[in-house]
Amino acid sequence: MDSFLIKGPCRLQGTVEISGAKNAMLPLMAASILTGGECVLENVPELRDTLTMKHLLEVLGVPVELGGGRMVMDASRVDHHEAPYDLVRTMRASIYVLGPLVAKFGRARVSLPGGCAWGPRPINLHLLGLKALGAEIKIDHGYIDAAADRLRGNEIILSLPSVGATINLIMAAVLAEGKTVIENAAREPEVSALAAALKKSGAIIEGEGTSRLEIEGVSSIRPFRHRVIPDRVEAGTYAAAAVLTGGEVEISGCRPDHMTAVINKLTSCGAEIDMRDNGLLVRGPEVISPVDIETGFYPSFPTDMQAQMMAVLCRARGSSSVMEHVYTERFTHVPELRRFGAQIILDGSVAVVTGVDSLQGAPVMATDIRASSALILAGLVSEGETKVLRIYHIDRGYERIEEKLRALGADIQRIKS
Ligand code: UD1
Repeated sequence: MDSFLIKGPCRLQGTVEISGAKNAMLPLMAASILTGGECVLENVPELRDTLTMKHLLEVLGVPVELGGGRMVMDASRVDHHEAPYDLVRTMRASIYVLGPLVAKFGRARVSLPGGCAWGPRPINLHLLGLKALGAEIKIDHGYIDAAADRLRGNEIILSLPSVGATINLIMAAVLAEGKTVIENAAREPEVSALAAALKKSGAIIEGEGTSRLEIEGVSSIRPFRHRVIPDRVEAGTYAAAAVLTGGEVEISGCRPDHMTAVINKLTSCGAEIDMRDNGLLVRGPEVISPVDIETGFYPSFPTDMQAQMMAVLCRARGSSSVMEHVYTERFTHVPELRRFGAQIILDGSVAVVTGVDSLQGAPVMATDIRASSALILAGLVSEGETKVLRIYHIDRGYERIEEKLRALGADIQRIKS
């Protein structure tokens, strides 16, 4: 397994180009199944998760060509309806094929995802919603078996605004008979991006970006050609890195309007952030001020930026609190950050971080995509060498992170094993 060797401390300076959003691309790849034709995506990030979803589509009978940020998916001959355990366990978003398969072909068999590094991640809302649309759902030897002659529109009230459930149910409802209303829907930009692509293809969807979605089912969806929106978490990670290192970084090709909560918190830390048409200029402060963070559903502070923000707060002058409301156990980075000398007290879903004057490089272990990026950030400002092990997590979600950081002046090398 590869690792990263980082020699710190450093101050980041320069321009970084943001890639397409993984969490917007994966639903769009699954949505190709609905069209029965050749779909094209542009601004596709080349990540491990991209390859996993490509593999899954190919297993289902959808050839996928990928190169130069462009992906062509030919969904005209889908001949399998099963997402196997080996793929689902490496990427939970494989569950996104469930809605499209049952809507288009009337059946799907998808391995149940297990827990994940930061605790339980249920999919009950996906299944309850599909049942409300008329699918018969059975659990069989670790697999979800879903069947329906044709889904029928219904009113679905989500008990939580789950991104994944909202996405799966939109994809199921667009081909259902009649009208579906999803109340308490997720409002994340990735949900709106999916709705935009499907609407261009003939789907009738209203209310994206709000908590109430109305979907009028249609009998078919045309193939789409769509550009993947920029990755707000990748952009936020580089913005956090600029603040932590006291650097000056232009974050190009991002959507500041998708990043308001993160920009506000980094500004409260003392950063100067200028909004540009298509990006941000972030200047880190000499002294980072402590801030209190509470994660929540969009537009609140994203759980996917909690670990990186905690790395920033490890160097603040004073104490900050970090409350995790979305995944209450998502703190696997805390013991690893302590290995750098960070002072963090964890009590349930609240961490109190007391900033220290300096961190020391250390060998640390990555546990998930965002925790890994927090460890890299800490390594950038630590004295001496940091070795980040198990970086396959970071390769799932960050495109060429070591190249992008090197171009900003970091001393980071990938060690192949
Ligand atoms: C997506 C993102 C992930 C992000 C998360 C929260 C993708 C591929 N992944 O994950 O990066 O961290 O949103 O912003 O886009 N829940 C249930 N039952 C369900 C589904 C969810 O109780 O059936 C709960 C979860 O435990 C969690 C909350 O709802 O507490 C939000 O989860 P959800 O929005 O579904 O996250 P994902 O879509 O899995």
